[in-house]
Amino acid sequence: MSKSINYGNWVSRSIIYFFLGIFLLLLIPTLFPILSIIKIILWVLAGVWLLPFIYMMHLFYYFSVKNNAFQFKTWDLVIQKLLWNGQGKALDVGTGSGGLAIQLAKKFPKSNIWGIDYWGKTWDYSKQQCEQNAKHEGVADQVIFQKASASNLPFKEGEFDAIVSNFVFHEVRDTRDKRELVNESLRVLKKGGRFSLQDTFLNKRRYGLIEDFIKQIKEWGIQQVNFVETVDEIPMPKVIKTELKTMALIYGIK
Ligand SMILES: C[S@@+](CC[C@H](N)C(=O)[O-])C[C@H]1O[C@@H](n2cnc3c(N)ncnc32)[C@H](O)[C@@H]1O
Repeated sequence: MSKSINYGNWVSRSIIYFFLGIFLLLLIPTLFPILSIIKIILWVLAGVWLLPFIYMMHLFYYFSVKNNAFQFKTWDLVIQKLLWNGQGKALDVGTGSGGLAIQLAKKFPKSNIWGIDYWGKTWDYSKQQCEQNAKHEGVADQVIFQKASASNLPFKEGEFDAIVSNFVFHEVRDTRDKRELVNESLRVLKKGGRFSLQDTFLNKRRYGLIEDFIKQIKEWGIQQVNFVETVDEIPMPKVIKTELKTMALIYGIK
């Protein structure tokens, strides 16, 4: 992969720096002559903050494109389950750094891909970064990136031949019932169009029982709905498995 391509990381650097900062703040006073008991307390507290730092670094390593490339693997899985022939237009909801939209464009050279995101402050992603990535991957003519929200897509009903999304709906703050976001994505998919959506669908608090949710999607008029758990599809170490145990794919035909 070219050096100028930057797909970022799902674990934001600010979280890592936050834990590291607190750890160092607690450690620095112990370098000065202070009471031993206070020194011990500060060491213990510093140790407590070191643990989440190590954990986040571990996740950062596995997600990073350069190392374990787990983000790439999840995009591949979404595309693999899409069952699309690549004719027409596809939409990537919550495109982030554009990775999934760009991989889709590369797989289907005759297609046109839209990637939308609200590009808030939580991640270091931006529209410009997506456009740069598309250019460096040689698909700039095929992909359009646009600022928009997953909760209110600026597209007409049935406008797209395929819809994808990866690890986005649970992050959308302005919609309490995350099932509405799936409905909104499916609204802009044409009858007979293909979809492949990956999110924390096994989180009962967000989506209710998965069996009930699938039934509900069918009641919305979706003719074929399939379901797989991400941890069964992608080989991953235990630490990632635990972190992503609620992640699953819902895919099929409208
Ligand atoms: C974990 S990242 C996943 C990004 C990308 N789909 C990927 O697979 O790399 C979550 C993404 O959801 C986006 N997001 C959060 N709320 C959104 C909203 N209301 N509308 C569109 N995108 C949103 C964030 O900006 C971020 O890019």
